[in-house]
Amino acid sequence: MDQSLEELRVTALAQIAGVGDEASLEAVRVQYLGRAGKISAASEAMKSLPKEDKPRIGKLLNEVRGAVSGALDAAKAALLAKADQAAFAGVDGSLPGTGLPQGSLHPLTQLQERAIQIFRRMGFALADGPDIETEFHCFDALNTPADHPARNEQDTFYFGDGRLLRTHTSSVQVRTMEKVAPPVRIIAPGAAYRRDEIDATHLAQFTQMEGLYVDENVSVADLKGTLEFFFRELLGKDAQFRFRPHFFPFTEPSYEVDIKTSALGSADRWLEIAGCGMVDPAVFEAINTRRGDRAFDPEKVTGFAFGFGLDRLAMILSRVPDIRYFTDNDQRFLAQF
Ligand code: PHE
Repeated sequence: MDQSLEELRVTALAQIAGVGDEASLEAVRVQYLGRAGKISAASEAMKSLPKEDKPRIGKLLNEVRGAVSGALDAAKAALLAKADQAAFAGVDGSLPGTGLPQGSLHPLTQLQERAIQIFRRMGFALADGPDIETEFHCFDALNTPADHPARNEQDTFYFGDGRLLRTHTSSVQVRTMEKVAPPVRIIAPGAAYRRDEIDATHLAQFTQMEGLYVDENVSVADLKGTLEFFFRELLGKDAQFRFRPHFFPFTEPSYEVDIKTSALGSADRWLEIAGCGMVDPAVFEAINTRRGDRAFDPEKVTGFAFGFGLDRLAMILSRVPDIRYFTDNDQRFLAQF
């Protein structure tokens, strides 16, 4: 038996050394190590050996099994390495790879991020509300009842159930004050919708940024200071401002903000850039009624609100001649930012 095991080892190793592909290697493995293979047969034959021979033959058998299986593994690894080498033959690993085009943030998103950063520094938190609004949040709570003429100027899409696409982000003022008590200091960027004819400066959907600050002793001076600081950070220190009296149902007094600055290409003429004002007491009372408390008592707190269009600002800042570029999804346009 010793003799035949030694022979088995020699022939097996020779056979393995001569194999040139994986399939034949597998055949050799089965031939020796398989269930009905030669080594299994030898270990079967061992059972009929005299007792005193068993330890010696057993040890030898294990050695042979180990040698054969080690040689099989080594041969397999060698075959794989060879296949790899063949696959990469002719490939120059030092050549540069194929570049994947890298995307960038949408120009409106970039401007919005910058605006948020500036307001953050003044302690404004981000607030959010739904695009599909109730008439209450978009109009009634903002002192704009159903028969108010301001509703004509802000016509929008009405769903059958009375909900509508919000015409301004001012609805987020209402949503915020329903939930938290003063002091409130938020900005709310987001989409707004109006029934506008689409042209180079109008889309039925555009982007606004709303701001609201309610606390004790908030004044028009705070409003002016906040907006002037914001627009100077965004557009340059030399920007000039004009707060022109205006009307919004939900602020009193109300203003439109005009800016003169070379950053907007308007060094010698005023550009209208935002609407703002002091929150009308009627808005606070609508909120109190809704809340069922006096958290926004107009005798105790005052506040300012403002809103401006990001599309318009982005158009002027980046010299974009047509607002429709922002929604066309044209790579040639977007890749420039
Ligand atoms: N919501 C107004 C608009 O869309 C802007 C505004 C916001 C005015 C807040 C005053 C206060 O025109």
